[in-house]
Amino acid sequence: MCGIIGYVGNKNVINILIDGLKSLEYRGYDSAGIAYRTCNRIEIIKASGKIKSLEGKLKKDVYGNIGIGHTRWATHGKPDEKNCHPHRQGKFTIVHNGIIENYESLKRLLIKNGYKFKSETDSEVIAALLDKLYKEKPDILKVLVQIKNLLVGSYALGILCDDIPNTLYAIRKDSPLIVGLSEKENFIASDVPAILKYTDKYIIIKSNEIIEINEKVNIYDDKLEKINKEILTFEGNITQAEKNGYDHFMLKEIHEEPEAIKNTIKPFLKYGLDSLIENMPIFEKYANIIIVGCGSAYHAGLIGKNLIEKYANIRSDVYIASEFRHQKVFTDENTLVILISQSGETADTLACLRKANELGLDTLAIVNVIGSSLAREASKTIYINAGPEISVATTKAYLAQIAILSLIALTIGNTRNLISDKKALEIIASFEDVPFILETLINEDYKGIAKTIYRKDNCFYIGRGVDYAISLEGALKLKEIAYITSIAYPAGELKHGTISLIDKGTNVIAVVTDKNIAEKTINNIKEVKARGAFITLITTDKLDEDFEWADNKIIIPNSNDFTNPIIASIPIQLIGYECAKLRGCDIDKPRNLAKSVTVE
Ligand code: F6R
Repeated sequence: MCGIIGYVGNKNVINILIDGLKSLEYRGYDSAGIAYRTCNRIEIIKASGKIKSLEGKLKKDVYGNIGIGHTRWATHGKPDEKNCHPHRQGKFTIVHNGIIENYESLKRLLIKNGYKFKSETDSEVIAALLDKLYKEKPDILKVLVQIKNLLVGSYALGILCDDIPNTLYAIRKDSPLIVGLSEKENFIASDVPAILKYTDKYIIIKSNEIIEINEKVNIYDDKLEKINKEILTFEGNITQAEKNGYDHFMLKEIHEEPEAIKNTIKPFLKYGLDSLIENMPIFEKYANIIIVGCGSAYHAGLIGKNLIEKYANIRSDVYIASEFRHQKVFTDENTLVILISQSGETADTLACLRKANELGLDTLAIVNVIGSSLAREASKTIYINAGPEISVATTKAYLAQIAILSLIALTIGNTRNLISDKKALEIIASFEDVPFILETLINEDYKGIAKTIYRKDNCFYIGRGVDYAISLEGALKLKEIAYITSIAYPAGELKHGTISLIDKGTNVIAVVTDKNIAEKTINNIKEVKARGAFITLITTDKLDEDFEWADNKIIIPNSNDFTNPIIASIPIQLIGYECAKLRGCDIDKPRNLAKSVTVE
């Protein structure tokens, strides 16, 4: 998500802020800005787009020795200049990483107190609130204690106050923050890479701590008692630091999945059914849903189709975007077109949106990147809030897309009285357990299984219904990052031709999570096993069998139809990852692929 940097010292702050922001680029961002003190006033420079655009706006021959900088990953408001940080209100200039959940009520209160807001962000509210509290009691440390009790949500804040010109303040809750230490200069940053050019000494800041930085660093607890903290020395290089110690961005992003899913579902499930119905679009009029996407987004769409048809009783057709845009489609005024895309810029998906718009159909975009073309041009947008993905192969965004589609099925099912309130509440409760289940599954060992698979250049993934949809994603992961020719096949279709490819030792990965069709899939697995296949089974603990015939077994906890596809996606992603690693592939940048496919 966003990145922050702050500096106080004897060097020119501008270069240090820009360097710091550049080394936070890996976190993903869509605009950037800096604020620094020069000639006794605060200068703020902002630009949408890349840091290069910001550099283009910097004045020559300016000097300052205290400042803050920010790379913004838009959450509230478009990634344009007015929403870009730093934000300033009264005597306070701030940068913020995180989301303030109660910003609307705080904003109403501040407007009543005469504050005017220039941006749509939750962050500008923090600057105004600091200013208001400071006017009431001009004691900055006490104000920081006070504001911590008023802000609900997550934040790491870098703060400049006009009255205290040579001191930088910082606080945090849930969003990361470190303090970098060097001779005659000190830093704050979201992450270690931002300071590594200048120092390898840093302190990790905890949620209840208040930071005051000038030529010294003071850290206080919430009673404003000074505390001593351990100074750490970073051992490693910048690239390792960016990946948070993980070998690859893909693995880092898989480990971020529990948090990503929490962020995806939070706005919809915060107050149970009420927030679900309130925050979802109104689906009442639709008798027909068309879902469009490419690659993993298409696979997420197939899972959505299964749930929408089963639980909302609405016909739902899923199309690969590059096909849909050129084919005849049958629609009427009761058709909703859902377009799924992590980047929101995929050329084919965008073309399908434009086609649907031309046909006068209602469109709903499910996207990750705020303010992307798809989000701007669709009649409605749901943001999945998965956070930036760097690795080319999608992981956390795919999971978040499934979560949103499941919640759509739940909303429609409930509003059409096909899912009772009681049942819906049970499903909502099960969603809240998902991050914990993911955490446990992610930490299991998939390397041992990958070692039995990775040497062969071919593999089959098989399943039925929703398990076939999950299989498609599993097979794509093996193809794109491990370069294994993997084919996903509906288990029941094998004996109509493809089973002739099964030979001694052929790898077959079978997904069996849907209890209703499990028996039939298991029969198909036994058919390929009898022909010599090497079976890796992914199933749930609900199926009462010991599966002694499977060569590898991955047993996931059974939840329900709405959450099982999210949970089952962990093993398929990690099998892909571990196989790719064993095959020595370039996991984060697979050959011939790009993160955002903006050409047809
Ligand atoms: C696979 C993958 C791709 C994308 C596809 C669509 O791991 O990342 O298949 O899912 O290119 O991209 P978006 O979601 O940006 O439209």
